[in-house]
Amino acid sequence: MRLVNPVRRRTSVIPALLLVAAAVVGCERGGGGGAASADSTHPGKYEYVGPPKVRTYPSSNATLQRWIAANDTVAIRQHGWDIWESITSMTTYGIPAWQTWYSGHEIFEESGETRARVRGRHGLVEFEVRPGFGHRPGLRRSANGGIPSDPSERVFAFNRFTQSTAEFIWKNGLNQGKVLRDTNDAFTRRGTPLISRAILTSADSTDSASFVLKPVFQFISGTEVTAVPYWSGDDSRASTDSANPIPSTWNRAVAVDPTGKLHPGDSVFLPVNNAGPMWMKVVPLSAFYWVKLTVDDSINFTQFGALNGDLIGVANDTSLQAVLNAARPGNIGLLMAMHVTGKEMPNWTWQSFWWGYDPKDPRFGADRPASIKAPWNHYNMTVAYSMTTPTGAPLVAYNPYLETSLAGKIPAGKDSLAWTGVTTNCMSCHRRAAIAWSGPVDTLPVPQLYGPAGLVNPADPEIFTQPFPGQKGRVPLLKTDFLWSVTIRGHTPPPRK
Ligand code: HEC
Repeated sequence: MRLVNPVRRRTSVIPALLLVAAAVVGCERGGGGGAASADSTHPGKYEYVGPPKVRTYPSSNATLQRWIAANDTVAIRQHGWDIWESITSMTTYGIPAWQTWYSGHEIFEESGETRARVRGRHGLVEFEVRPGFGHRPGLRRSANGGIPSDPSERVFAFNRFTQSTAEFIWKNGLNQGKVLRDTNDAFTRRGTPLISRAILTSADSTDSASFVLKPVFQFISGTEVTAVPYWSGDDSRASTDSANPIPSTWNRAVAVDPTGKLHPGDSVFLPVNNAGPMWMKVVPLSAFYWVKLTVDDSINFTQFGALNGDLIGVANDTSLQAVLNAARPGNIGLLMAMHVTGKEMPNWTWQSFWWGYDPKDPRFGADRPASIKAPWNHYNMTVAYSMTTPTGAPLVAYNPYLETSLAGKIPAGKDSLAWTGVTTNCMSCHRRAAIAWSGPVDTLPVPQLYGPAGLVNPADPEIFTQPFPGQKGRVPLLKTDFLWSVTIRGHTPPPRK
């Protein structure tokens, strides 16, 4: 793997801003154009709504492969927008379709035990068992053995799954570490080659109804004007660290006014990211998709959401208290970013959205179809439908709100290289999602290596075999169909007999 512009690794930053991939419940919600539905939508009073057809969505694998081979970024980006229009389409319940989807909590957390700290530092996924977190009171078992439901959780969750994906994972026990381990053991017994040591999370190699999301919110005061730094590129004018331009280094901001007292477009003088105050423009809440946290939210704020270490601007203040402070009742969650992956093709389509001060950003927003309405038209987009360009060069595609905190080092050999989030590609990193348990006493899976943009071969022994403590040689891993949630959130298997 070769990379342009290797960059240095960041070691410390100052906490300044707290964005949280949240898992909270029951909340007021709002949208653009003053269309806030307040608390008129009660948790549980809605059914699942799948992603409707929009122009090129869904497309066949063959069509997508043609665009990729031809490097037709225009068609690929249009497809990404069509997916955005589909999943954000308003339901009769006053919430977007995606908000009715299954939560990771419903699919994975029935055991009450979660391995967390998933977005580790230094380019490694860190695993950690947190026993004794117990069931959330809202989780209702289903009489017929189906997915338990937690309607309140579905309002606002950390990961989201469409029905076919949720059901496939559930019915096939892919949320169970034991099933994954048995599958990997069976591959070993049969001598299955490394390339084929993989599960699918859909009945076929594609499923156009399959989507998985990662929405991310930033909490602000519900009563005071708050400065919200926004991404404006990684050059030195916009960030104090262009190698690792995480949100706490951004020095452009807007003032979000939940009171409606200030006029949009006015300028106010506020501090940003622990730097001195500066002038910034006022933007109304309606420029965001937003939710207001209720008392219940702060009580029910799940430990997973609080402890997963995935505050945006990671590497800063990840203490539980800091997260809980941000999730106080009355505070407002602004949707800042959303990762979207869909299985119209075997390697999944990867598109990611973030709030843009300039929603007409020439590279990331200008091509958005006019049919995408407020507040969804305030979000810019990047796409990764392949790991490399047709000529084999690494294709970089990252979400500035989610990946800029990442940094790592490919350890050994000629490819040894330090990298950061601004050199990553969604598909290259998700291709690496894989797991194994080994040894006479079951150990946690070893930390898996993240990596930067570039081709990741599913048969690469450097990536898909790992040394285990107390184990001779390297142990082959089981690939989990590009879904890190399956790698990370599946239940720990019982010890081997
Ligand atoms: C360097 C590694 C890395 C990169 C790059 C990366 N991700 Fe992820 N992603 C993860 C990990 C680990 C998780 C699981 C934990 C979490 O949700 O943070 C995850 C979670 C997700 C999920 C939730 C579903 C799941 O099971 O994985 C989606 C959707 C997603 N990412 C999409 C994207 C998109 C789109 C991009 C590119 C803009 C991207 N990711 C870039 C590592 C990465």
